[in-house]
Amino acid sequence: MQAGLEGIGIAVPTTYVELSELAVARGVAPGKYVEGLGVTRMCVPLEDEDTVTLAARAARMALQSAGCPPEQVGMLVVGTETAVDHSKPVASYVQGLLGLPTNCRVFETKHACYGGTAALQMALDWVHAGSAKGRKALIVCSDIARYGIGTPGEPTQGAGAVAMLVSDQPRLVVFEKGKTGVYSKDVMDFWRPLYSKDALVDGHYSVQCYLDALAGAYRAYQEAAGEEPAGEGLYSDRFAALVYHVPYGKMSRKAHRHLRTLDGDTDPDASFDRLVGSSLVLPSQVGNIYTGSMYMALASLLSTSREDLTGRRVGLFSYGSGSCAEFFSGVVRPEAQARVRSLGLEGLLERRRKLSIPEYEEVMRARERIDEKPVRDAPGTDFRYQGTRDHKRVYAS
Ligand code: HMG
Repeated sequence: MQAGLEGIGIAVPTTYVELSELAVARGVAPGKYVEGLGVTRMCVPLEDEDTVTLAARAARMALQSAGCPPEQVGMLVVGTETAVDHSKPVASYVQGLLGLPTNCRVFETKHACYGGTAALQMALDWVHAGSAKGRKALIVCSDIARYGIGTPGEPTQGAGAVAMLVSDQPRLVVFEKGKTGVYSKDVMDFWRPLYSKDALVDGHYSVQCYLDALAGAYRAYQEAAGEEPAGEGLYSDRFAALVYHVPYGKMSRKAHRHLRTLDGDTDPDASFDRLVGSSLVLPSQVGNIYTGSMYMALASLLSTSREDLTGRRVGLFSYGSGSCAEFFSGVVRPEAQARVRSLGLEGLLERRRKLSIPEYEEVMRARERIDEKPVRDAPGTDFRYQGTRDHKRVYAS
């Protein structure tokens, strides 16, 4: 039995910050953020947007674009590291907003940016084991990446959600059963203490942890895959594209250089545009969205690559600080690129409104108190966070 992505949906906040303007405000050369980190814009959520609203909007797009009625969903998992409650999962709010059935397994997963991949792998096993019995899993990765104003992490923020409909009818990507390599290690590279909205990070150490995990997971993948995928030359040339977790574009470049060097490539940057370039088009306009970053990169590849990827293999590397990482692979289905292009993802990003740097700083400060914000009617009906009343979050649907 095959298992993979039947549909995908993406949601981003309606506002963004231009990185070149942020650099000027911080007294930094714009080249450092734009070329040095590889980020042009980053999404910033306003106070009527949170992990729940982003997840619900992405999930709705995934269901609608696949033509899947809510009653066919038998499992809903939200991977996030931006929870809205210690107990009630984001997934329960999403279930309510989307009207998903009661005979649906609903919960949240956490392991930094790896939380969504943990959920996806479980859903694939659920389908492969026959437990799904024709029903589908909705896996949503939703996060708001946040570091302190003026810290080195500030230009690597972002916000957004990616939802994936997983089933035995994959129309976008079939994930290859058993072909995964895992690497995990207890490290203190990045964390989000319970008393802080801002993430804390040992930035340069986190880059090294990511690269060590890539080496470990890639080695484990090769052991698991055996002679498959077959091919001549460097192992990574057996993939038509490589999609890395993207905290910022330059990290993907560092990752690719590392992987090719492990393969024995003496010119490890030469293959970057061919194997990685298309996966960075959307992430460079959104910033880090933690759990969803690698899946945003996959959507970017399918949406912007000019190559016909039909029947071709894609390698995926998911990294979550703390840490857990996985290298796995999938094969692109016919029509997948046309289907993802029809979602109009680039247009979605173009419709955002730019915030000035003082506006952005005000939004960041207001967000400190967002969980206690009194209920206010939010305009529109597009899944908005209205505030908290009697200690209960209220959403407009
Ligand atoms: P920094 O120390 O301020 O920057 O912060 P830098 O000095 O390393 O410079 C960055 C790059 O810009 C360098 O390029 C410079 O040369 C270049 P590199 O040497 O790396 O190739 N540069 C310039 N380029 C062009 N024109 C110029 C210029 N000036 C300098 N004028 C750092 C960088 C990434 C450490 C910081 O942004 C940070 O801490 N970010 C957050 C942590 C992070 O994203 N880590 C990534 C790995 S861990 C991960 O991915 C997990 C994560 O997603 C969380 C989760 O799992 O939940 C973060």
